[in-house]
Amino acid sequence: MCGIVGYIGNNNSVDYLLNGLKSLEYRGYDSAGLALIENNRINLIKSVGKVQALEDKLSNLSTSSTIGIAHTRWATHGKPTDENSHPHLDCKKEIAIVHNGIIENYLTLKKELIEKGHIFKSETDTEVIVHLLEEELSNITNNYEENLIKSVNIINKKLKGSYALNIIWSKTPDIIIGTRIKAPLLIGAYDDCNFFASDISAFIKYTDQVIYLDDYDVAVLKKDSIKLYDANNNEKYFNKITVDKNVNEATKNGLEHFMLKEIREQPHTVMATIESILENIDNAFGINLMDIKSVKNVLLIGCGTAYHAALVAKYWIEEFAGVPTQAELASEYKYRKIAQTDETLAVFISQSGETADTVAALEKAKLSGFKTVAICNVYSSTISRIADYTFFTKCGPEISVASTKAFTAQLASLFALSILIGKANKSLDDKDVIKLIRELSLIPKSIENIINDEKSIEGIAKKYYTEKSYIFLGRNVNYPIALEAALKLKEITYFQAEGFAAGEIKHGPIAMIEENTPVFSIMGYDSVYDKMLNASQEVIARGANVIAITDKEGNQHMIADIVDRIVIDNTPQYLSPILNIVALQLFAYHVAKLNGREIDQPRNLAKSVTVE
Ligand code: AGP
Ligand code: GLU
Repeated sequence: MCGIVGYIGNNNSVDYLLNGLKSLEYRGYDSAGLALIENNRINLIKSVGKVQALEDKLSNLSTSSTIGIAHTRWATHGKPTDENSHPHLDCKKEIAIVHNGIIENYLTLKKELIEKGHIFKSETDTEVIVHLLEEELSNITNNYEENLIKSVNIINKKLKGSYALNIIWSKTPDIIIGTRIKAPLLIGAYDDCNFFASDISAFIKYTDQVIYLDDYDVAVLKKDSIKLYDANNNEKYFNKITVDKNVNEATKNGLEHFMLKEIREQPHTVMATIESILENIDNAFGINLMDIKSVKNVLLIGCGTAYHAALVAKYWIEEFAGVPTQAELASEYKYRKIAQTDETLAVFISQSGETADTVAALEKAKLSGFKTVAICNVYSSTISRIADYTFFTKCGPEISVASTKAFTAQLASLFALSILIGKANKSLDDKDVIKLIRELSLIPKSIENIINDEKSIEGIAKKYYTEKSYIFLGRNVNYPIALEAALKLKEITYFQAEGFAAGEIKHGPIAMIEENTPVFSIMGYDSVYDKMLNASQEVIARGANVIAITDKEGNQHMIADIVDRIVIDNTPQYLSPILNIVALQLFAYHVAKLNGREIDQPRNLAKSVTVE
């Protein structure tokens, strides 16, 4: 993962770099660091922990350096320590490098470099890059800039894996070099300064002029010029794109956590997403009805929460459109042989649009010749640029690492896509379509009602927050919600939480039940209500405390043994996942808060996982 930012201009670079790092912190917060060039020497400052820790360390630094590179880390190789923090330096402390990605052949390279006398200070894969470059540059005594470009191209041929790099060299004090292979890196171009960054948020305050690098490009930034070279050192033409500068600044609106703010925003974000689809549902996903009609198979791909949205949509597409549908984890899809069918619509779901596993799966689907549609929340993201077409959910920035509002907006979008496929292949007639859309339009109001009931959910959290193990049961469309609720709880509380298909509990997981184990039973008054009651009674018989997530009708029929109930509006079974998860997000939030967890940035995680 990691976020990279580089600045070169006329002003002191430190503020630009720190601001950039703060915007990129969602990519990792194990450590942060920067390297500046000053008086032809590299000045390195780094610190374990969040960007704030680096900022504190920098408060006494007096510098007027106008060139620097910076990094916020999510460790892949080597613990989060000062030594493993980026930037990394060569033996002579003349070259500094920041890296996003993984060098897969680092052990072989490291061995060779050690044999040649290089001294390694860290356990990272990254450090081989800087020593490799040092080796290439060791005999260079003139034409420093030209030779640096050539050397970067040489090491690009030796390194295996995925990476984006920023490089500075004290012998070329007026340039920053950037290169990338399968990891994001872009340039922000301004009048008298230029930026490198992992994404636009790092410089969008200053400029909306963006250049996207291709794999193997080597870019040279000076304060007043930008040059790109291909893998053969030939200068190449590039396009500058103007991106939307109206990226909402994310603030907590006076609340303690982004996660709570984002949960509470869902009536609006789901509504805005639905409205933008309904403006023109036939074209909302960029494929015309004739093409959708010929779809014989749907593939839904994502990771984590986005994968759970895919699992829900599988039920919808098969129910409304009768088209065979698979939901796949991106990381599994990439590395297995696929039995390919023609006329496959492949849908990629990603809040960030940067998840490396999902990008890799998308590339594979494109090579297979599938039509590809992305559902993303971030404009100009990698996935949105690769897919044939992207529908953007209308959530605004999602800052909390635990995804909430992106999930419900993904569900609303996928529900609309399911209707569209059913409409195109005539599984649904006009009346069905109107009815389903009307039902979807009522969802934001029912989400609002859940949010207004937050106090009672908090009350249940107060009753159970000292427990260390939780179980979530659901069936049919709410089975994936059991998985998502468990993921939310484990991400932000670090407690054991498992989601199961309720029918499966008797096949093994019931062995986990102990006296007072909290078991959440997602049981609206629908086609599986009785079955959910059976499963609930089976666990109650073994000592569990069942908490029902039910609707008003289900509440009427509830057994007296189930005392704790979260009651939502009556809604058709197929739409209930969008409501049930909001209640369970609130439960997870309050348990985490009562346990004093660091809710927005839980340990070991990052918002956007840009390594495979
Ligand atoms: C969600 O709470 C998680 N932090 C994580 O599972 C996330 O959904 C996953 O990494 C996919 O991210 P994306 O939607 O940005 O692709
Ligand atoms: N592999 C590098 C490290 O562990 C970079 C990590 C990343 O990009 O996530 O420091």
